Amino acid sequence: MSHKVALNFEDGFTRFIEGRLGETVADASYRVGINIPLDCRDGACGTCKCRVQSGEYEQGDYIEDALTEEEAAEGLALACQMRPKTDLVVDIFASSEVCKTKGQAFQARLKSVERLSGTTIAFTLEGAGALSFLPGQYVNVLVPGTEARRSYSFSSPPSAETQSFLVRDIPHGLMSTFLREALPGTALEFVGPSGSFYLREVRRPLLFLAGGTGLAPFLSMLGKLAETGCAQPTHLVYGVTNDEDLAGLDRLQEFAARIPGFGFTTCVAAERSAHPRKGYVTAHVEPSHLNGGEVDVYLCGPPPMVDAVRAWLGEHGVTPANFYYEKFSPSGAVTATGEDHRRAAA
Ligand SMILES: Cc1cc2nc3c(=O)[nH]c(=O)nc-3n(C[C@H](O)[C@H](O)[C@H](O)COP(=O)(O)OP(=O)(O)OC[C@H]3O[C@@H](n4cnc5c(N)ncnc54)[C@H](O)[C@@H]3O)c2cc1C
Ligand code: FES
Repeated sequence: MSHKVALNFEDGFTRFIEGRLGETVADASYRVGINIPLDCRDGACGTCKCRVQSGEYEQGDYIEDALTEEEAAEGLALACQMRPKTDLVVDIFASSEVCKTKGQAFQARLKSVERLSGTTIAFTLEGAGALSFLPGQYVNVLVPGTEARRSYSFSSPPSAETQSFLVRDIPHGLMSTFLREALPGTALEFVGPSGSFYLREVRRPLLFLAGGTGLAPFLSMLGKLAETGCAQPTHLVYGVTNDEDLAGLDRLQEFAARIPGFGFTTCVAAERSAHPRKGYVTAHVEPSHLNGGEVDVYLCGPPPMVDAVRAWLGEHGVTPANFYYEKFSPSGAVTATGEDHRRAAA
């Protein structure tokens, strides 16, 4: 039986490979031309050290100089020795370029474009074939008729046959303008998947904080949790600026019905809003959502919202067990995707 191994590179790209029965992660990578760092191939030098984010594996044989007991306990492993026992997600400590690979390019067609709210457009793609990604990741889409690329997070789970996305409709925005006029069937190219903002193994309660179309990656994560089940309480606080920005509530209600222990709160920041809950997402985080710090927090939205929430957590002395965030920075800006502050090993 083979297992799927997601290799995450330092530059954000992810490649998926099949690890065949009895094959090490290094052998499976080289078989498909991905040259991850390797030297002795014998568990002696430590060059192939990597971090396992999720999944089970046999560690194999190696000496203490290559990997200490403490490192192994922290989730580090040697790619030349480890053999997957389940699907794995592995961080490789090198860029995709160094490993002579890169993000895969895909061709797809627009299947549908739909206005979900005054400021939100959803689009779906078909024809890209089997696409592997981790829920929460994004792709870089080439805006048709231009040389410009824009990043969009999947709002569909990896198992979906068509991929869906949520886009904030920005007046005069390049991609926004294209989508406002786009016809189904239009060809689209994209590269990916990318990003370290993805759902890790669920080991404790989850708190999801979404701002605007920062909801997209959470819809993908919730889609995955609806399929696999989730034994931990999960709460989403979803905030927008104006009433007309709220979108995707029907999908959230479906998830609340399908995922035991999942609930969500919406809020609107504008003072003149008619919404029953006003203010920023931080005003609607309850102590029970934080579970005394024994919680994994995922945060995604526009940069000012992400910065404000991070500052709020710091000011209130909240140190979650794990904290992952992604900023939907405008194109051309320095992107901060998926920084990870850990109180404890995952
Ligand atoms: C990792 C990552 C994932 C992302 N995922 C998503 C996603 O799932 N959904 C999504 O909607 N966006 C997402 N973004 C942002 C997206 O890539 C584009 O920047 C955004 O959609 C604007 O593209 P545009 O071509 O319509 O506008 P542009 O032509 O890029 O911008 C036009 C003008 O609007 C300004 N502008 C850009 N963004 C905003 C904003 N939010 N508010 C006000 N003014 C703005 C620009 O500075 C520029 O002056 C993501 C960004 C990153 C880095
Ligand atoms: S390559 Fe030397 S320990 Fe793996």
